[in-house]
Amino acid sequence: MTAPKKLFIKTYGCQMNVYDSERMAEALGGQGYVETKSADDADMILLNTCHIREKAAEKVYSELGRFKGLKAANPDLKIGVAGCVAQAEGEEIMRRQPLVDLVVGPQSYHRLPEMEAKTRAGEKALDTDFPEEDKFEKLKTRPKASRGPTAFLTVQEGCDKFCAFCVVPYTRGAEVSRPADRILAEARDLVERGVREITLLGQNVNAYHGAGADGDMTLAQLIWALDKIDGLERIRFTTSHPNDMGDDLIAAHGACSKLMPYLHLPVQSGSDKILKRMNRSHTAESYLRLIERIRAARPDILMSGDFIVGFPEETEADFQATMDLIEEVNYGYAYSFKYSTRPGTPAAERAQVDEDVKSERLQRLQTLITRQQRAAQDSMVGKEVSVLFEKPGRQEGQMGGKSEYLHAVHVEDAGIKVGDIRKVRVIASGSNSLSGELV
Ligand code: 5AD
Ligand code: SF4
Repeated sequence: MTAPKKLFIKTYGCQMNVYDSERMAEALGGQGYVETKSADDADMILLNTCHIREKAAEKVYSELGRFKGLKAANPDLKIGVAGCVAQAEGEEIMRRQPLVDLVVGPQSYHRLPEMEAKTRAGEKALDTDFPEEDKFEKLKTRPKASRGPTAFLTVQEGCDKFCAFCVVPYTRGAEVSRPADRILAEARDLVERGVREITLLGQNVNAYHGAGADGDMTLAQLIWALDKIDGLERIRFTTSHPNDMGDDLIAAHGACSKLMPYLHLPVQSGSDKILKRMNRSHTAESYLRLIERIRAARPDILMSGDFIVGFPEETEADFQATMDLIEEVNYGYAYSFKYSTRPGTPAAERAQVDEDVKSERLQRLQTLITRQQRAAQDSMVGKEVSVLFEKPGRQEGQMGGKSEYLHAVHVEDAGIKVGDIRKVRVIASGSNSLSGELV
């Protein structure tokens, strides 16, 4: 028997890339690869890249440069670039960095086994197609192995919204939903392997409209179907667009006990002028009313959001409107970014806001968000939460997990096992996590 070949995958960016990396490793498992945690002893290195913000491609090139020594020491080492930078740069990657053997986009990685074989025959392999066939149909069923209690599951991919700042519609392609029966089969399989919480993934997950037995299903209908799977205890989904937040999905937040009270609903800006220029097709007011309805269905829901500061033509007054919106919503969590130009997107061509102004606004926004996050976390002290334990904590006898609100929680109790869901009373709020005791 030959020794297994070693695969090192480095994943950048979003949760969907984490999911894709797992599936790529599984696909290459059929070629005799096992994963390794270090690039040094790898037979293949794959960078699964992200193109969403700032200098993504440059970072990939500098990372690739660092593999020169490894390639010199082991000429059989194959180096690949996957993900959204691969899609955006294509052949250019091999031109600029000749040590790269393989470039594969997010919609064609089911072809990795053939591509790997090609590199072993000494050829370069490039595939950045948006193929007709569905990659999920072509990928092998997931090999059975036990795994941790939480998992990601891609249900929808791509985006047709074309926000003026965003590369996703170009790198991930048009919006496509997977058929419901495939998703349910994958979910059942994950549960058999020990998973108790599934996060449904999609760039526009709440626009989900996959084929079901009686026509297309909404995300809410899919969630209700998942709700029936014994052993699956928690359901989450990300990322949503305000315009696709259907009534049935809002109602599910109140009625489905497995659906966790946490919702990531990016707004990007609080200024209607900027929202319009971003091509967001919602207003600050319509977003606020939507949150009112969501909170009416599930009063304790923890809201999270994304914000871009310094979008072209953002004035101080526009920025202040974003700050006002944040004050009004009161977020439990938020991600905020300085606008960065993405080649090929409409906003890249417009007059840009000064870098110093962007930095200063970002700082003010993050101060406000940090205060809200802190308050949300501190408000948990004294409350009972339910915690899914994921791994041992840093201290001996300690276990760590997540509450239904996605707060990290630590408990000192030798009796808790990974995968347990237990009621915990929160006793203190630390810098990044809560500590508590079993009820
Ligand atoms: N510049 C800054 N932030 C961006 N995002 C997407 N594109 C850009 C860009 N060009 C942010 C948005 C989105 C999140 C995933 O990344 O806030 O919701
Ligand atoms: Fe990008 Fe999201 Fe807008 Fe689609 S909805 S273009 S993924 S920011």
